[in-house]
Amino acid sequence: MTGGSFSRVGVVGLGTMGAGIAEVLARGGLAVVGIEVNQDALERGRGHLEKSTGRAVKRGKLTEDAQREILGRVALSTDFADLGDCDLVIEAVPERLDLKRKVFATLDGVCRADAVLATNTSSLSVTDIAVTTERPTKIVGVHFFNPAPVMKLVEVIRTVLTEPDAVDRVAALVKDLGKTPVTIGDRAGFVANRLLFGYLNQAAGMLESGHATRDDIDTAMTAGAGLPMGPFTLMDLIGLDTCLEVLEAIHAETRDRRHAPSPLLRELVTAGLLGRKTGRGFYDHGAPKEEAPARADGPAPVVGVLGTGALADAFAAICDRAGAQVRDAAADLADCDLIIEASGDAGAGRELLAAAAQAAKPGAVLAVTSATVPVAEAATASGRPADVVGLHLPDAAGALAEIAETVATGPGVADRAAELAGRLGLTVVRCRARAGFIVDALRFPYLNDAAAMLGAGYADPDAIDAAMTLGCGYPTGPIADLDRLGIDRAVAVLRALHAETREPALAPVPLLTEHVTAGVPIR
Ligand code: 3HC
Repeated sequence: MTGGSFSRVGVVGLGTMGAGIAEVLARGGLAVVGIEVNQDALERGRGHLEKSTGRAVKRGKLTEDAQREILGRVALSTDFADLGDCDLVIEAVPERLDLKRKVFATLDGVCRADAVLATNTSSLSVTDIAVTTERPTKIVGVHFFNPAPVMKLVEVIRTVLTEPDAVDRVAALVKDLGKTPVTIGDRAGFVANRLLFGYLNQAAGMLESGHATRDDIDTAMTAGAGLPMGPFTLMDLIGLDTCLEVLEAIHAETRDRRHAPSPLLRELVTAGLLGRKTGRGFYDHGAPKEEAPARADGPAPVVGVLGTGALADAFAAICDRAGAQVRDAAADLADCDLIIEASGDAGAGRELLAAAAQAAKPGAVLAVTSATVPVAEAATASGRPADVVGLHLPDAAGALAEIAETVATGPGVADRAAELAGRLGLTVVRCRARAGFIVDALRFPYLNDAAAMLGAGYADPDAIDAAMTLGCGYPTGPIADLDRLGIDRAVAVLRALHAETREPALAPVPLLTEHVTAGVPIR
């Protein structure tokens, strides 16, 4: 049996998270007492448990006998008195302080004096809950991630009142359950939500402002940044009501308007469209799956790649893979369908593009690749602004191309650029010409927030990286990302975003500029 110093654990509230937590505990061999307010809610909780373990049986991950054993370890009840002999009780009721306080008052009455009481809150202050109990030293936060049986992170939150022994015992339990505890202090959003929700809210703002479509933003972040889910798919998984609550709580602490919930998110919540759990949120989950658009075919285009360096090499390699002819000399551009300025240098690039604009045939598309120099500026300087689009590769070795049109781009030119990029084997998303296109505009503010968290001493690099990889399934954590993508690149994109929006929180934090000046990585 696992569980360390705990052998019998109560879970109050068997919604998605509570049932997931109960399953994790029972899978770990612990006796679990699951409590709901009434019989209907209890049956729903039983349904969650049966469905989730049934899914594992169907996938051949669990035998029917093992499922029966796991479910047999969970005693379900509507009577709080059944928690009397639990060593630990985890509360997972809806995110309302008054409700949580009421539950803790009841727990105070029925639980043993030495029992540890934990809240799975994702947005409320653990301290706010602790101070109204009769055992503030035994109150901790245990923050699981959705889906609880799958995600490996649990944030263990200590308040200034919690006794170290209670925190250590809970962290040991988390380890015994096969998960990774990250122990931190009580700040709104803890580590993962604090970093995740600024990004999710910004994605909602992008959609609302018409910068890009829902599907293109989701595709950009999966295909371009390697995330397991795009922001809208993830918000629908988390539940839009929860997203709204988490943002409100983080905003109340930071007063950063980037955390003020997007009006679109609020509207969806008001309309009762809460995501997967209600069948509709950003997506309609009942609708038949749309077929992926067919890959653009047709002969491989003739492509001019201007400039020397890593970016030009990356475009040349893409063309090679697609069997496209590449021209790299200014004198050879006359038959090019697409000319890509990939010098990586604003001044030299402008000259190269202006020369290419003179040589290019009518109908050729001219593309600029910088995420920091405004596309419109390069387009105007080229003398053929109607033929110019932005064409950005968030990852030079990746398969995603972001195509941006300016107000001066001619009708059909961005469509043609998208088709040509598709014929080069790239996955294409479209957006307006704004600093950072989609991927960089979303990921560098998040990386800046992670650097700010590190600079403030709230969590160390390992904890920050573990929060995002194990809690949200990111392929790499933000601190590792900063070193991988380049702190100088992060600073350049952030400065461009700040120059464009004048949003104070988008200015690179001192820790980043200091590392760039010193020329040393963050780790
Ligand atoms: N319940 C139980 N198990 C589930 C599940 C669910 N709802 N969804 C998926 N799984 C299991 C599957 O059974 C499978 O397990 P197996 O490998 O043992 O067979 C495994 O997860 C992978 O599932 P799939 O192959 O069907 O799906 P994917 O490969 O697409 O992975 C995912 C699904 C694990 C959910 C992945 O997309 C992911 O990591 N997404 C990011 C989720 C995330 O960010 N969560 C944190 C949100 S923030 C939060 O919860 C905090 C809160 O305070 C708001």
